[in-house]
Amino acid sequence: MLERRPDGVLAVGQTVSLADVARDPSMGTPSYVYDLDAMAGEARELRAAFEGAPHLVAYAVKANSAAAVVKTLVAEGCGADVVSGAELLLALRCGVLPDQIVFSGVAKTDDELDRAVLAGGAGIGAIQIESVEEIARIAARAKAAGRVARVSMRINPGVDADALDTHSYIATGHDEAKFGVPLPSVADALDRLANAPELRLVGVGSHVGSQFTSTDAYLASARALFGIAKDVRSRFALSFVDAGGGFGIDYGDGCPARPADFVRATRKLQAELGLGDLALYTEPGRSLVGAHGTLVARVIQRKISGDRRWTMIDAGMNDLMRPALYQARHRIVPVVLDASAPVRPYRVVGPVCESSDDFGLHDLPDGELREVAILDAGAYGYSMASRYNGRPLPAEIFVRGGAVVGKNARRPPEEWVEDRLRAGI
Ligand code: LLP
Repeated sequence: MLERRPDGVLAVGQTVSLADVARDPSMGTPSYVYDLDAMAGEARELRAAFEGAPHLVAYAVKANSAAAVVKTLVAEGCGADVVSGAELLLALRCGVLPDQIVFSGVAKTDDELDRAVLAGGAGIGAIQIESVEEIARIAARAKAAGRVARVSMRINPGVDADALDTHSYIATGHDEAKFGVPLPSVADALDRLANAPELRLVGVGSHVGSQFTSTDAYLASARALFGIAKDVRSRFALSFVDAGGGFGIDYGDGCPARPADFVRATRKLQAELGLGDLALYTEPGRSLVGAHGTLVARVIQRKISGDRRWTMIDAGMNDLMRPALYQARHRIVPVVLDASAPVRPYRVVGPVCESSDDFGLHDLPDGELREVAILDAGAYGYSMASRYNGRPLPAEIFVRGGAVVGKNARRPPEEWVEDRLRAGI
């Protein structure tokens, strides 16, 4: 857990001081610092909500693909939800059993499908069909491999986008979204599946969006999904329903529903609708890792013009894209807090040459401020980082048992230059 020690310093597990991380040349800034124990705790809490009923917590690797994170969650019994051949390879290398992998994505290439079909002795647990058109493509790859591929159908329940109650860029279960088999196409998809001996339909699922802070929209979608699952069952031997990920975290404005609350409510609905014998799959990403990663940045300088005040830090939108992309707000606090220092609103900005490189207004002390911590950056932080402006990817520091157990260091600028020169002409 990230805590403020009595000496005013932010630390993970009381012992790993973020000031030490920032000032140690082998780590420095900008650095993501991850609390692996807390991530494991999230997985345990979520799995406990299933009370021993058949289930799979398929961790959405896209949220944070560091092997140390994936392995931590695998050790807690999680599987993986992957969306590319690379994520699939990573999950397998991190010890996820092929049976416990689901592969989502609207446009999977033949190479990616081959990797899924050929993994382990019988391919992965389920390739998620996201369109009618994809069915023949998956069948062809399975046929070429001489295997029967297990598939699930990701349904787009067509929920009204406004009802989804989250940022439009991360809402996926509405009519306009490219994701999932649209409701009017479900019957056609089922007919095609029935005529594809290379495919075995083992599940139906949906993932309707991300960062839900209450269970309402999630349950409305699950209800639509379970209705369809009941019909599908009369023709296919389903083994699971997959209600997707999307459990929110508290970025500062509250998040009354815990991930376990979503699971409990979904299980109740599943039982009410007579589907209690099927395994319940979920695909959480953010809720397992988001609150347990902190981006530590150094203050480069202040800038003051009239009543405008900026705090300029060495982390930018390339390191944490969420504010620029979704107007997301992450709390920003001093790494070392002097509780007696007067504070004032400062606009916290990075060094990138874009106006959107802006982390918003935050109350910060006027006086000396060496480093800041950007909170709740464990999900969709490093995994969305880029090398824009020739900036190195940030470092990653892994904490377990109150000690730094691993580092992914920043690469020197020379490496980027060599990479850009690589075509050799
Ligand atoms: N399953 C599927 C098929 C998904 O597309 C996603 C996320 C998840 C599971 C995991 O959702 P979660 O539990 O993390 O909400 N970059 C955005 C979030 C994009 C989510 C994309 N899909 C952000 O930073 O808010």
